[in-house]
Amino acid sequence: MRTSLFTLFLLLSLTGLAQNKVIDPGAVWPDDKGNHIQAHGGGIIKIKNTYYWYGEERSKGLDPGYRYVSCYSSKDLMNWKFKGDVVKMSDPENLGAGWILERPKVYYNKPTKKYVMYFHLDTKNYQYARVGIAVSDKPDGNFTFVKSFRPLDHQSRDIGQFIDDDGTAYLVFEDRALGFHIVKLADDYMGVEKEMSLVRMPLEGGAIAHYDGLYYAIGSSLTGWNPNANKYATATSLEGPWSEFKDIALPETKTYQSQSTMMIKVVGTKSTTVIFMADKWNPKAQWDSRYLWMPLEISNGKLWLNEPKPWSIDIKTGSYKFSN
Ligand code: GAL
Repeated sequence: MRTSLFTLFLLLSLTGLAQNKVIDPGAVWPDDKGNHIQAHGGGIIKIKNTYYWYGEERSKGLDPGYRYVSCYSSKDLMNWKFKGDVVKMSDPENLGAGWILERPKVYYNKPTKKYVMYFHLDTKNYQYARVGIAVSDKPDGNFTFVKSFRPLDHQSRDIGQFIDDDGTAYLVFEDRALGFHIVKLADDYMGVEKEMSLVRMPLEGGAIAHYDGLYYAIGSSLTGWNPNANKYATATSLEGPWSEFKDIALPETKTYQSQSTMMIKVVGTKSTTVIFMADKWNPKAQWDSRYLWMPLEISNGKLWLNEPKPWSIDIKTGSYKFSN
């Protein structure tokens, strides 16, 4: 028995299939094949008991004429199985070399049974400023491009995704002319129905959580790939009014060198954990950009990101613990 367990362990280690027992913020994060996860600027949805993580696939050596969106699945948020690149798209609207597809987010639409992906679609100089939509019948693709548009006729660059506890789907987007918009999606998710809030602040990397009766919105300043001190505000309704924005972490750490992309709420039998999900961009070697995921301290209108260290989460109980 001992020998066989040891052999199994050896095999798993040799094949890179060892289980991740912790989330180590900022470290290389191996998928089921031992490769660093490529899901930058990502978003997560939960379908039954499975989480799906979509993001920008930025592996070395990809064909530069295409843009790729990866998909990973997990039952525990720590171990991720690579399901493939669910988008491999060549310039869908003749935007020219260096066209951009960033921050993909997927919603599942119950009435149409479609998986609807939103992404930032742009030209190399970021002047097109639209959202693109691609759809699939399955969570793990493939997704087919449908159209692009400017939500409610506004410029849209970074996008964020928020699905409320009642299942209503929202899009957050950054509009350089006006600020930070939160909009409700149309019933079939193929467009935008109405604006909930316009926060007149230059914020991107939008993320929202609904926790204990309050909405918490996080955004970063507009400093490109360079990190800055991300900020948050609260409101009792998505329509606002929003409180003033405050730092989510010690400002001199520049959000521990990261930029927000989403918050995930894990509701378990014992507690509820809100995870801050962020990117540590490496613009000169994007394939090596890392992820900073940390449980947030959140209560009574206060939200705080502590100094990152390895931790683990129990999906069933909803509790997390630090490993040392
Ligand atoms: C960041 C944005 C990224 C990417 C980058 C390009 O501000 O969050 O998604 O667009 O700028 O410089």
